[in-house]
Amino acid sequence: MYPLRRNRRLRTNEAVRSLVRETILSPNDFLVPLFVVEGKNIKEEIPSMPNYFRYSLDLLEKEVKELWSLGLKSVLLFVKVPDKLKDNKGKEAINPDGLMQRAIKRVKHACPEMLVMTDVALDPYSTYGHDGIVEHDQILNDETVEVLTEMSVSHAKAGANFVAPSDMMDGRILSIREALEDEGYINTGIMSYSAKYASAFYGPFRDALDSAPGFGDKKTYQMDYANRFEAIAETEMDIDEGADIVMVKPGLCYLDIVREIKNEVDVPVAVYQVSGEYAMVKAAAERGWLDHDAVMMEQLTAIKRAGANIIATYFAQDAVRLL
Ligand code: PBG
Repeated sequence: MYPLRRNRRLRTNEAVRSLVRETILSPNDFLVPLFVVEGKNIKEEIPSMPNYFRYSLDLLEKEVKELWSLGLKSVLLFVKVPDKLKDNKGKEAINPDGLMQRAIKRVKHACPEMLVMTDVALDPYSTYGHDGIVEHDQILNDETVEVLTEMSVSHAKAGANFVAPSDMMDGRILSIREALEDEGYINTGIMSYSAKYASAFYGPFRDALDSAPGFGDKKTYQMDYANRFEAIAETEMDIDEGADIVMVKPGLCYLDIVREIKNEVDVPVAVYQVSGEYAMVKAAAERGWLDHDAVMMEQLTAIKRAGANIIATYFAQDAVRLL
């Protein structure tokens, strides 16, 4: 009596395992989130994101050059806005000389071929820490879309290659696409956070940007994590409205959604492995409870296996150093 088939034969040694391996990570898979602050010579660690930093513009230049030398060719910019510049309307978000606009130019100056994507949402600019304009404790949709549209054009003007609306307002992709076309930015892409869930995994990010909501939560615009069909509907709508790349966020808890969307759509699918996912691995590894590198590679590979064409991750640098 022999086993009908010896599946273990293809696992005998690393050579054969690598020969039949289906999913291979490469530096081309990664999009690197970067946090930017005002000031000079600042590289400050984010307490809830060990070994991840906010950079002032001068050190941001150094950082993107380093990324480029590692083969990392795309960044996603976020800015930490000083309190005194926050309001309810996102006025600073459309300042042509705002931190984001200057950051885009600095990255392009330091590394002209680096693909620059920018976060488009009001939360870092909002006194309320919400992604949109607030009135009577409600997040206004259409008024917010107007600001996000201006903000996107302003990023394109500064030189962004892609804008990445992360706000989950309805109709923003169409409005942004039309404005970019009208203004002649026909090659500025849109990476839409199309299936973005109201998640508790964003905590450390909100520390990084000091952008936690001052009241309530984001459940009236971000999706209910119990829902699946809604993710497909949201994603298809964003594609119809003009999104070039769609995104599922967070990552690990949502890989069922990633696979489903990947099977459903014909544009590239990005996955954002978010701050809380990063923090969990770092914390467990610091205590010696998990093997950092092994867990990191397993998670990133799983995200790609699930169907991600692009992975936005705080582990990008750690990962490419191991590849
Ligand atoms: C802003 C934005 C958030 C993240 C990306 N863009 C926070 C939020 O929606 O509250 C989260 C990223 C992360 O946790 O790493 N709208």
